[in-house]
Amino acid sequence: MARLSPLSSYSRASIIVVISLLMMFMGSSSAQLRTDYYKKTCPKVFSAVESVVEDAIRKEKRMGASLVRLHFHDCFVQGCDGSILLDDTSSFTGEKTAAPNNNSVRGFNVIDNIKSKVEHVCPGVVSCADIVAIAARDSVAILGGPKWDVKLGRRDSKTASLSLANSGVIPPPTSTLGNLVNRFGARGLSAKDMVVLSGAHTIGQARCTLFRDRIYNETNIDRAFARTRQSTCPRRSGSGDNNLAPLDLKTPTFFDNSYYKNLIHKKGLLHSDQILYNGGSTDSLIELYSKNPKAFSNDFVAAMIKMGDISPLTGSNGEIRKNCRRAN
Ligand code: HEM
Ligand SMILES: *[C@@H]1O[C@H](CO)[C@@H](O)[C@H](O)[C@H]1NC(C)=O
Ligand SMILES: *[C@@H]1O[C@H](CO)[C@@H](O)[C@H](O)[C@H]1NC(C)=O
Repeated sequence: MARLSPLSSYSRASIIVVISLLMMFMGSSSAQLRTDYYKKTCPKVFSAVESVVEDAIRKEKRMGASLVRLHFHDCFVQGCDGSILLDDTSSFTGEKTAAPNNNSVRGFNVIDNIKSKVEHVCPGVVSCADIVAIAARDSVAILGGPKWDVKLGRRDSKTASLSLANSGVIPPPTSTLGNLVNRFGARGLSAKDMVVLSGAHTIGQARCTLFRDRIYNETNIDRAFARTRQSTCPRRSGSGDNNLAPLDLKTPTFFDNSYYKNLIHKKGLLHSDQILYNGGSTDSLIELYSKNPKAFSNDFVAAMIKMGDISPLTGSNGEIRKNCRRAN
């Protein structure tokens, strides 16, 4: 039997190079999202997404807020992989009924409409996870906030995790400041990122059941503001639970820095909002963003890009779903 000849150091080096290149292309950890990812394969993706988001927001302003939140809840569970979009079936349970999502997360029909339009212009190319990221970006811009170049190249998960979605990785509105910092830290986001991303609460609505304790029991709240909110959110649990109130009392369909001004005046709606300005370590950031809308815009953009980078599936991992509601 012939003995294998020992490899020369030259061929050994080439094998190492080939293997590393293979690993890069096969989508191990080194793959990166890029802003020009669809430049050749789907240059029309941006106009397609934007037109559907514009229509949706024209019909209902709140939808812009719902689409921004959808991206957050997608990214915090398994990474930004479209896992939140998967419907439950008789043999599959996804994340839609998880406590932070059930009767709360919205926008799935809009994502379906975007996907149809995008499939029409470039079939089988653009992931649902990327569509969610672009729709969130467009929503902020359409509602008067900053616009940024969104990084792309995420692929869609074939799975979702109800238990992870329920495990507290998306922090509840009853959280302490420490818990908020820890939960964002677990996703590679700093306390500053957490404070600036919470500024997304300058748009959108919340249900009575999620702020009842705050408006009846907390003391770090403006009295007149509490009474106003109490008028449509009864004390008794079970009554009016789904009644809505704006997260930003005056301009809930305009993306500005008034969220932070509200906190300075003890008019944060959620416990997790007001806790960011309650004599703790994040007070100075709230003061900064309340006075400096430009600082808020710049830091919000940077933090959204960072959030959009959370554990994407790339390369040959995951898939490009045909229908955002189910794996292929
Ligand atoms: C810091 C931790 C956070 C907590 C505890 C929290 C909690 C909540 C709660 C309880 C609601 C109301 C849900 C309902 O009534 O069903 C809400 C709404 C919303 N959240 Fe957050 N959130 C946090 C961070 C974020 C982040 C990072 C974003 C996006 C960057 C975001 C965007 C939104 C938006 C836009 C809405 C309104 C959605 C709509 O009107 O459909 N939130 N959030
Ligand atoms: C989700 O909400 C529906 C009501 O719309 C309720 O019937 C169901 O029990 C909830 N699911 C969970 C897991 O809480
Ligand atoms: C407020 O606190 C009291 C006393 O701890 C408690 O019984 C009640 O459920 C809390 N919530 C509301 C909405 O009153």
